[in-house]
Amino acid sequence: MLNNINPLQTQAWQKLQAHYEKMHGVHMKELFAQDPMRFEAFSLEFNHILVDYSKNILTDETRELLLQLAEETQVKAAIESMFNGEKINRREDRAVLHVALRNRSNAPMMVDGHDVMPEVNAVLDQVEAFSKELISGTWKGYTGKAITDIVNIGIGGSDLGPYMVTEALKPYQKPHIRVHFVSNVDGTHIAETLKGLNAETTLFMVASKTFTTQETMTNAESARDWFLAQAKEREHIKKHFVAISTNEKAVVAFGIDAKNMFKFWDWVGGRYSLWSSIGLSIACSIGFENYAKLLEGAHDMDVHFRTADFKENIPLLLALIGIWYGNFFGAQSEAILPYDQYLHRFPAYFQQGNMESNGKEVDRNGQEVNYQTGPIIWGEPGTNGQHAFYQLIHQGTKMIPCDFLAPAISHNPLSDHHPKLLANFFAQTEALMNGKTLEEVKTELSAQGMSAEAIAELAPYKVFKGNKPTNSILYKKLDPYTLGALIAMYEHKIFVQGVIWNIFSFDQWGVELGKVLAQRVLKELHDEAPVSTHDASTNGLINAYKKMRKA
Ligand code: F6P
Repeated sequence: MLNNINPLQTQAWQKLQAHYEKMHGVHMKELFAQDPMRFEAFSLEFNHILVDYSKNILTDETRELLLQLAEETQVKAAIESMFNGEKINRREDRAVLHVALRNRSNAPMMVDGHDVMPEVNAVLDQVEAFSKELISGTWKGYTGKAITDIVNIGIGGSDLGPYMVTEALKPYQKPHIRVHFVSNVDGTHIAETLKGLNAETTLFMVASKTFTTQETMTNAESARDWFLAQAKEREHIKKHFVAISTNEKAVVAFGIDAKNMFKFWDWVGGRYSLWSSIGLSIACSIGFENYAKLLEGAHDMDVHFRTADFKENIPLLLALIGIWYGNFFGAQSEAILPYDQYLHRFPAYFQQGNMESNGKEVDRNGQEVNYQTGPIIWGEPGTNGQHAFYQLIHQGTKMIPCDFLAPAISHNPLSDHHPKLLANFFAQTEALMNGKTLEEVKTELSAQGMSAEAIAELAPYKVFKGNKPTNSILYKKLDPYTLGALIAMYEHKIFVQGVIWNIFSFDQWGVELGKVLAQRVLKELHDEAPVSTHDASTNGLINAYKKMRKA
């Protein structure tokens, strides 16, 4: 079971606090000047993934103290509890075993005293068989034509994962199968997606763990209406709708054949579900053999996470670095900046992964925490971000630790695009670290022939303090294996942070309040009469909406 330790009461925390007093005035430039082996000392490699964390405001001593924090908060035992299928999602009384879904070793993994691997493998076999039928064209639509378009209908974890991965692995996509993702309850999303699609050759995957989510069920019903408007017979639904869910009763009630249901289990969290049958759209898009490689990469990262010494443990160190900045330097957010266009949904994916997991204010004792927990996660691909928000990272008043990710080899080696992209990748972290002093600015301006007066006026604006922390994650090529490993790396980082913060990372009660209230408001919107049951602002807004629709 998970421990219940207030991190503030560990010796390591106290020591880190004192250590921070020494470190917050230290400039990384000095650390590099003092130690020519700093890169070697603060970087790790994992199967063609290089993680350089040397551009951080930390020393050997910082790392030792952070590692001590992980020891004292019993992270090792927590990792074992997860892999052993203990019910560490305590407030929902569930195990957390997405690692079983990608357990390519096939060693038994237990939940409630039984090995889940046979069921996991059975569903994987079903995914494999279905994806093969679909890709080969043996699966036929109601008029005997092969499927050309898949529409995945889901939201949150039932959308972001498959969407992110299919975008990331586009070079592996089967060209005759197009995948579309509909998530928003805004009718525009499904309406725009269905434009130009043909019901005869379209297959809908209704992906919902609960099969009750308002957005997904509304979109699924509209998809069914659209389909039946052309196909007419309900009988044809079974060739064009499959379901991915834990809720068989609701799937059948919707009209989907139980044979076309791909199940998964309550021990798979929504935001950790792309490894389950929620990944069906991925397998159908890139082929099962590539999907299996994605699982393999994640599995190898799982083994690394479970077995590597803490000092060499990549997810663990990334987690500790995050805690160093969030809890000691007061950083509020972290940016994920992929210099890889294929990863354009990667920050959004981990926005859910991280913020829904660790956006918690109550600890494992039911007490409000008196320290910071999960950070705000955001980001966009480089180099686009450079022309949008990097200004604030370089010269703003907030500390924003950044992860830079980039492939050494591009899938699209057009002229010199890739060296240009990577030049920016390397330059940005160097610039963020070194900055530029007032002296340097003055020398530069005077070399340009500027007058002393003009220099005095302009120079302060051109100063970069530097000392902005970054991790650089350089991988050989974005293939399915590497992507799997990268995703698992971030998942485990989030896990470690939740353990140390003494919070429950695998529930998400915070999404309930707004959801329930929206149901009540919806009833009021169906009625023409003005409302008076809310606060003045909400009443005012709802009534203005009703008026605008009439005018
Ligand atoms: O937003 C809350 C949430 O429960 C997420 O955790 C989940 O990924 C999403 O809704 C979708 O849920 P479901 O798969 O049950 O439709």
